[in-house]
Amino acid sequence: MQKLTLIGPFSQIITMAGLPLKRKLNDDQIHPIEEGGVLISNQRIKAIGNYSEMQKTYSDAHVITLKGKHVCLPGLIDAHTHICFGGTRANDYAMRNAGKSYLEIAKAGGGIWDTVMQTRKATQEELTKSTIKRANRHLKNGVTTIEVKSGYGLSVAEELKMLYAIKEANEKTDSDLVPTCLAAHMLPKDYTGTAEEYLEEISIELFPLLKEENLTNRIDAFIEESAFSKEQIAPYFKKAKDLGFDITVHADQFSTSGSQTAIEHNAVSADHLEASTEKEIQLLAKSNVISMALPGASLGLGCAFTPARKILDAGGSLAIASDHNPGSAPMGDLLTQAAILGTFEKLSNAEVLAGITFRAAAALQLEDRGQLLEGKLADFSVFHTDNYNEILYNQGNLKPCMVWKNGTLVYD
Ligand code: NIG
Ligand code: FE
Repeated sequence: MQKLTLIGPFSQIITMAGLPLKRKLNDDQIHPIEEGGVLISNQRIKAIGNYSEMQKTYSDAHVITLKGKHVCLPGLIDAHTHICFGGTRANDYAMRNAGKSYLEIAKAGGGIWDTVMQTRKATQEELTKSTIKRANRHLKNGVTTIEVKSGYGLSVAEELKMLYAIKEANEKTDSDLVPTCLAAHMLPKDYTGTAEEYLEEISIELFPLLKEENLTNRIDAFIEESAFSKEQIAPYFKKAKDLGFDITVHADQFSTSGSQTAIEHNAVSADHLEASTEKEIQLLAKSNVISMALPGASLGLGCAFTPARKILDAGGSLAIASDHNPGSAPMGDLLTQAAILGTFEKLSNAEVLAGITFRAAAALQLEDRGQLLEGKLADFSVFHTDNYNEILYNQGNLKPCMVWKNGTLVYD
């Protein structure tokens, strides 16, 4: 017989169940379960309902009784990060705030290439260790699933080193790390051939190894003037698709074209979109591509936010992620950033919470999480309050008092 654990009573359980993947949401579409209980069996949710009724129905369950006010939210999902890296870019940050632009800093020897050099210098072990440390910090903030990109190796061997480090970190942290290959982050400065040749080499030499070694099933590319064009990336994405990889795109960060690429290649998500105009917003809304806002990059660079309100009003799907990376998004606090995006873009709390739960899960093609429902993973975080609106109202300053991952208490 499976061991049952009943936790409660919660002042409110926010299940995020029954909400659509696309379109705007109103707060009255969230139906908090008052005086609720969560029943866990074998890492998954067995039932959610009224706590006292569940106590009677499941009288054989081990009971964890909560005292005081508690709100239960699905484990947060950060569907876009670069938390595997060496070094720091604090100097870039200082230069930028002193007036230098992103591209000027890159041309002066800073930018992504600086992190590539520092990541290449790090051993796989060192990368594993620092990735675990960052993942654990996210976990304490209620994030139970974290997508992690490579992209600071930029050669077959160095990209492999990063992806092995991410794989090992995943085994050693309580959060789930979802790896993505971002070998197409920029043309490495030490590569002597053309961008086309680099991409071809990666697709021929690295893609099959990623499959064989089970290192990732996701391929990302940065479509931008400083990185790759949509023409250059087309054969790369085609090869990835042929091998069965999911595609995701760093799109429309400074100029448009990436979102169109994402749509043409049927990507699971188009991320950034700060530069998207009405045209791109309408096309994304009509497609199955999930739009991903990265407020951490807007805050790190001092740039405009992704037009999240317009995307939802046009009927699109909006996920929100931290983009945690050493260059453009050093803060790495998803809940704070999502709350701030909500104030600037006038998003309902339902829209913000959807963006960091089930809509983020959909962007990662993970059907087993993002909502608190029977059969889903028992991933949830608990906050000391009796009203879920307090969570975003505190703009990240109300931290979880408990985090549960796969039915186990991993932080309290
Ligand atoms: O998502 N836009 C490109 N890549 C990252 C930045 C990485 C870096 O600056 O190191 C991003 O913002
Ligand atoms: Fe990114």
